[in-house]
Amino acid sequence: MDNRPIGIFDSGLGGLTVLKAVATLLPNEDIVYFGDSKRTPYGSKSKETITNFSRQDVSFLLSKGVKAIIIACNTASSNAIDELTKEFSIPFIEVIKPGSLVGSQVTKNNKVGIIGTKATIESNAYLTNITNINNSISVFQKYCPLLVPLVEEGKLWWNHPITSAIITHYLSELIQQDIDTLVLGCTHYPLLLEVIKNVVGEKITIVNSAGEVAKAVYQTLDDIKLLNNQGNGTISLYTSDSVDKFTPLASEILDNNELFIQTIDIERY
Ligand code: DGL
Repeated sequence: MDNRPIGIFDSGLGGLTVLKAVATLLPNEDIVYFGDSKRTPYGSKSKETITNFSRQDVSFLLSKGVKAIIIACNTASSNAIDELTKEFSIPFIEVIKPGSLVGSQVTKNNKVGIIGTKATIESNAYLTNITNINNSISVFQKYCPLLVPLVEEGKLWWNHPITSAIITHYLSELIQQDIDTLVLGCTHYPLLLEVIKNVVGEKITIVNSAGEVAKAVYQTLDDIKLLNNQGNGTISLYTSDSVDKFTPLASEILDNNELFIQTIDIERY
């Protein structure tokens, strides 16, 4: 048993979809979340920049005394995990493996679509993981660079017809490939779930890996005896940009109006 908090980071709001699943499955754990809203999106940046940003995100969370870190960002998971595990001795839980596992288990016709940021898709992390699990699965990938900015822009856009038109444009190629499973390879995309569902219809199963990531967190902490089974877990949120924009959206996503949110200067870490 270890009552230090769990750290979670993302480029912005998307990782809150993972936080929600983790807080539900592990209600005793204190959680410290950092969303790098000032420098979002990560997905259009180089591997080197993504790694540098991720390194600072980890350093900030370590300054809060966390016992493990969830990389609640597919872009950082796919581009920076090797460097981070080399440089820091803390346990990391990333988001690509859980999503790949569910995607490969759910498909019946062995045709899986992946959507994510440019950096995630170009890393081929999902393609590699899924074909390692089952090499008879064909993986069709598409990067969707406009979706993260639309989510970060605010709730008005999450169900907007323009967002629906953009998603239809991005997904048409994958739908034509006859995929029966679509993995949301970006933690921002579950916030667009209703629109994505309407675009793909009922024949395609959508995989949001947040629940699987939460199970991986539970398993990892249990294995190394770091679970906290007592107390009421608290949530502390930090952003690198103004809390004015972050607060209403975080409250909406977490369904909680009493959040502690603070701005920090991430470049100091
Ligand atoms: N939520 C991040 C991910 O899962 C968004 C990346 C971005 O900032 O472009 O990839």
